[in-house]
Amino acid sequence: MPDNSLIVPTHVGIIMDGNGRWAKKRGLPRSVGHTYGAQNFRKITRYISKRGVKVLTLYAFSTENWKRPKEEVSALMKLFHQYLVDSLTDFREDDIKVVFIGDRTAFGPELVKLIDETEEVAKDRKGMLLNIAMNYGSRAEIVEAVKELCHEVRDEGLDPDKITEKDISDRLSTGGLPDPDLIIRTGGEFRLSNFLLYQSAYSEFYSTETLWPDFHEEDFEKAVSVFNHRNRRFGGV
Ligand code: IPE
Ligand code: IPE
Ligand code: MG
Repeated sequence: MPDNSLIVPTHVGIIMDGNGRWAKKRGLPRSVGHTYGAQNFRKITRYISKRGVKVLTLYAFSTENWKRPKEEVSALMKLFHQYLVDSLTDFREDDIKVVFIGDRTAFGPELVKLIDETEEVAKDRKGMLLNIAMNYGSRAEIVEAVKELCHEVRDEGLDPDKITEKDISDRLSTGGLPDPDLIIRTGGEFRLSNFLLYQSAYSEFYSTETLWPDFHEEDFEKAVSVFNHRNRRFGGV
């Protein structure tokens, strides 16, 4: 049961890690861990939306994850395909607006089409915004923002001395959104692995040993409860 006295963070980021170890513990191939992880993604997204979070950014595949064995990458691509088809109907009931961040040009044409369709059918929804970070890398995103600014300096007369922090954040894939208040990482590591580097300057970080396929509603509530006990000073006193 959620504790309704808790303040729910406006923007939550989740690094969904630990699928491979979850499978290994059971003597199963890593891809089975990804299947269970994908199922959990749907369930927990709907719960988090009902809980009143306004923006949820989920890290599904990093720019570095292409380094994995070919079979694992192709199993992940198949899963993305399948779960995108499902989410076309799934998230409608919850009025969840789905947006993809990351470089989609690296995916096959069928997957790109599905990504576009998923965004298109959800574009007028008014509920939680779900950012799915796929082939996402925060450094790459910062490079793109810098390039954009350079072009504006060269072609549109932008004064380099007038560039602000907001000018950079507006050009990131999360442009216009509030920074994440809480970043949850499952699987026990204490690192960002190239996730929302610029945006997380003042995010609260919560790491749990729980592996992603085992991260359920009560684990989310625990993270929200811990978040409520943090003293966010933003450099002040
Ligand atoms: C997270 O689980 C899913 C992706 C990165 C795609 P992992 O596959 O990284 O699982 P572990 O960390 O090896 O257990
Ligand atoms: C981070 O997990 C990326 C995603 C969850 C999509 P990784 O498993 O790729 O991170 P590292 O390699 O442990 O840093
Ligand atoms: Mg991992």
